[in-house]
Amino acid sequence: MKLSGNTIFITGGGSGIGRGLAEALHKLGNKVIIAGRRRSHLDAAIAANPGMEAVELDITDPTSINQVAAKLIAEHPDLNVLINNAGIMQPDAAAGKIDDALMVATISTNLMGPIRMTSALIEHLKGKSDAVVAYTSSVLGFVPLAATAIYSSTKAAVHSYILSQRFMLGSRARDRAALGAHRTHEQPGGRTGDAARAVHRGSHRGAPHRRRRDPCRGGQAAPSQRRPERTQPGQRLQCANDGNLRRGLTPS
Ligand SMILES: NC(=O)c1ccc[n+]([C@@H]2O[C@H](COP(=O)([O-])OP(=O)(O)OC[C@H]3O[C@@H](n4cnc5c(N)ncnc54)[C@H](OP(=O)(O)O)[C@@H]3O)[C@@H](O)[C@H]2O)c1
Repeated sequence: MKLSGNTIFITGGGSGIGRGLAEALHKLGNKVIIAGRRRSHLDAAIAANPGMEAVELDITDPTSINQVAAKLIAEHPDLNVLINNAGIMQPDAAAGKIDDALMVATISTNLMGPIRMTSALIEHLKGKSDAVVAYTSSVLGFVPLAATAIYSSTKAAVHSYILSQRFMLGSRARDRAALGAHRTHEQPGGRTGDAARAVHRGSHRGAPHRRRRDPCRGGQAAPSQRRPERTQPGQRLQCANDGNLRRGLTPS
């Protein structure tokens, strides 16, 4: 992501990590618009950072999301970066009876909210240079904190969703490239495509070939001219007495 000259929308930008991100990106020369439910927090942030703007948003409410998305596109047509940061974390009781309201609030804020917000802006973002969609996930998505099992599971879910979304946006860029239609102003797909290829490196045609390890050379990569014929299923490569690779030798 380029760090200046963007128009950036940050959910949960009125406090905590979101406000920190908003102020840092504002200082770097980006147009920053923050969002959240509490008007007092939004007003305090924009008062301290002249030029920053704010909009009220309830990320659990699809109507609020769609209204804010429409307002952003109308008033900030250069918008090219979405940072899905708003989130809540509350202790729960995975070993006992779950508080249904807590569960619904956590999932709709941390998982459905970012998915809906991105969905409302994605077609706009696809038309922008250097477009980025970012999410504030958590290490608890990888190693859950048992006392916040629902929160941790929403972060794991959002991570999974991002991998699929990044891959799908990357596929779009690859399709365009194959058609020879890639243009610089369509970098959003291209950039995410690079990342998608990084995640799935090695599983795509065109990914760099890894050189075969040569057991005759202490595991160093085998020079290409020394590569033996392709092995058949069940055959193994062995280091023969003459120092060359042979296929199908029985271990001595
Ligand atoms: N703090 C950590 O150690 C940590 C670690 C890893 C990840 N995170 C993640 O980082 C993100 C920010 O957390 P934080 O620590 O900075 O907490 P925070 O200070 O409580 O900030 C959360 C922000 O989300 C907004 N928000 C909550 N519910 C919302 C809703 N329904 N609609 C719109 N905005 C809503 C809040 O604004 P309003 O209440 O005004 O709506 C607030 O500005 C979260 O996604 C969190 O899960 C935090």
